[in-house]
Amino acid sequence: MALRISARSELPPFMVMDVVEKAEAMQASTHEVLRMEMGQPASLPPQAALAALQRYIDDPRAHSYTLSRGITPLRQAIARHYKRWYDLVIDPDQILITMGSSVGFLMAFLTCFDAGARIAMTVPGYSAYRNLMLSASLEPMLIDVYAEDDWRLSVEKLAALSPRPDGLLIANPANPTGVALSGAEVEAIAKWCEANGVRLISDEIYHGIHFGAAGHCARQYASSALVLNSFSKYFAMTGHRIGWIIAPDDLVDPLDRLGQNSFISANALSQMAAAAALDDPDSYRQMDEYVARYRINRDLLLARLPEKLLGQFPYPDGGFYIYADTRALSADSAVLSNRFLDELSISVTPGCDFDERLGHLYTRLSFAGSTEDMAEAAQRLSDWVAQNA
Ligand SMILES: Cc1ncc(COP(=O)(O)O)c(C=O)c1O
Repeated sequence: MALRISARSELPPFMVMDVVEKAEAMQASTHEVLRMEMGQPASLPPQAALAALQRYIDDPRAHSYTLSRGITPLRQAIARHYKRWYDLVIDPDQILITMGSSVGFLMAFLTCFDAGARIAMTVPGYSAYRNLMLSASLEPMLIDVYAEDDWRLSVEKLAALSPRPDGLLIANPANPTGVALSGAEVEAIAKWCEANGVRLISDEIYHGIHFGAAGHCARQYASSALVLNSFSKYFAMTGHRIGWIIAPDDLVDPLDRLGQNSFISANALSQMAAAAALDDPDSYRQMDEYVARYRINRDLLLARLPEKLLGQFPYPDGGFYIYADTRALSADSAVLSNRFLDELSISVTPGCDFDERLGHLYTRLSFAGSTEDMAEAAQRLSDWVAQNA
C-alpha cells in the first residue's frame, strides 16, 4: 500500500536547478559553459577568511558543535559590522547564526507564524520564500509589482491588501529585479508594518552590493523587524552556509530552541572564518573591489546586449542580476534559456522561477562572474540575436 506524502511537500521545483544540472553535466564532459544562472560570486572569500580556515584546521573547536546561536566572537563581530555600516547598536545576544539565510527563513517563518498565517511578498521575487512558506503551511500573499513602476513596493500597495497579512517579507536589494529601496521607502514600509501589527522580515543578503546609495537596514526603523543576512553574497562565501538573523528580544529564545532542535549548530570552522573576515578591514576593501567589478559587468552587459534581449527595464541598483524582458525573442523564457545553453553554452535562469504569471517573458542574467566571461557572453548573445531575431 502506498503511504501518504504530505501536501506541504508538493513544492514547485526550483527551475534554475535544472539549468545548473545541465550546465554541470556539459562542463563534466569538458564543454565550457559561461555560467550566468546562479548568484555565485566568481572570486574567492576574503583573504582573512582563507587564512583563518588554514589557521584553525587543527583546532578541535573547528570540528565540534558550537552554541546553537553561534560562536560569540562571530556574533560580536556581526554587531560591530552593524555599527560600522549603519551606525546601529545591536546586542550580540539578538544575533543568531544560521546555516545560510535559507535555513534562517524557515526558522523565521516557524517562530513568527502559526499555520495558515498570511505572509505578503512581491512578485517577481525569490521563489524559495514562497516555497518555504508553503512547506510551513503558511499562505503566501503575492503582491504584483511591475517594471513600469520600477518593480517597487509602496505603502499604498500594502494598504490595499485585503485581508491584512500577518507578515511581510521584503528583499532589499531584490532578486531578481535588483531594486534597492531608499531609506525613506524602508522607513515607510517598516512603520506601516509596526502600525498595523504586521511582522516585517527583511532579507538584506545583497547589502553591500549597491551601485548607488548604501543600503538601509530595516532595524533602523522597526525594532520588531527580523533581519536576515548571510556571508554568501557580499563576502563571496556561498559554500560555507553561514547566515544570521537579527531578532527582537522576545524571538531570540524561540529561534534558539528551534535551531537547537533542527540543525544544532552551523559549521564551526566556517563560523571562525566568517568572524576573521569581519575583523579585518582589508576584507571590506577586497569585497568592495568585487562590487566594483560587478558594476563594470552590469554596465558592460547593458551597453553591449541588444535591446531585443534586454527590453525596457529599470537599471538594477543592487545585487548582481539583470531581469531582462526577453519577450521580443520568445514568449517562453524556459525555451529561450534552453536554446542559450544548447546553442551558445550560456546558462541563464528563466523568469518562471520568480513569477508564475509573467515570468515566461523574462530571463535573469547573473553578472557575478568574471568581466572576461561577461564580455564573451555579450558577444555570443548579440551575434545570436542578430541571426535569430
Ligand atoms: C534573495 C535571496 N535570499 C536568500 C538567498 C539564500 O542565500 P543563502 O542561503 O546562501 O544565504 C538567496 C540566494 O541566492 C537570495 O537570492
